Amino acid sequence: MLISFDYENDSHLKFSYQLLVERYQNADRINTPGLSLTELPSYQDHFEWLRKQDTATYYLWQHQGEFVAQVFLRSSSSEMTDLAIRNEVGVFVLEQYWEAGIGTAAVSALLEEHPHKTIYAKINPENKRSENLFKKLGFQNITNIWSVNH
Ligand SMILES: CC(C)(COP(=O)(O)OP(=O)(O)OC[C@H]1O[C@@H](n2cnc3c(N)ncnc32)[C@H](O)[C@@H]1OP(=O)(O)O)[C@@H](O)C(=O)NCCC(=O)NCCS
Repeated sequence: MLISFDYENDSHLKFSYQLLVERYQNADRINTPGLSLTELPSYQDHFEWLRKQDTATYYLWQHQGEFVAQVFLRSSSSEMTDLAIRNEVGVFVLEQYWEAGIGTAAVSALLEEHPHKTIYAKINPENKRSENLFKKLGFQNITNIWSVNH
């Protein structure tokens, strides 16, 4: 079940922080774009960072009464291309729930929540799980950007 993220709800914030802690602990395996491997932010820092994400809409995915994933839609800039991306989807599933269809279900529900929009995903080419998930939902690779610095 897709649930709108509520910044006033402690259980929502705690789950979001739990996902972040897991990403830091397993950074070698949980290979995601945009994660700088400096020190793990404190719970309070994470909360304040989340509240500042005013171009993002966050959701949690609940499975059998438990929060198991977070999905979002946001506007962002790409570190690799310097290009702004509107409607970028992101998804994070607790590792113990991987490969059970949760990521697909959560992204699918987010797409239904935002119909008639072109939605983008930034995917690390080494992240085959993510690539397969988005391919399965009909996403196509459109990147063919060249540039020069002179
Ligand atoms: C990427 C991620 C969201 C996938 O979530 P998930 O719940 O495991 O995904 P699903 O179970 O829905 O699987 C999606 C597809 O991935 C593929 N897949 C599953 N296991 C795989 C594996 N070991 N290797 C490669 N592809 C795999 C399958 O094609 C699967 O589709 P299927 O249902 O037809 O088998 C999850 O691994 C995750 O949170 N990773 C860390 C954060 C991240 O990388 N986010 C994406 C960047 S925005």
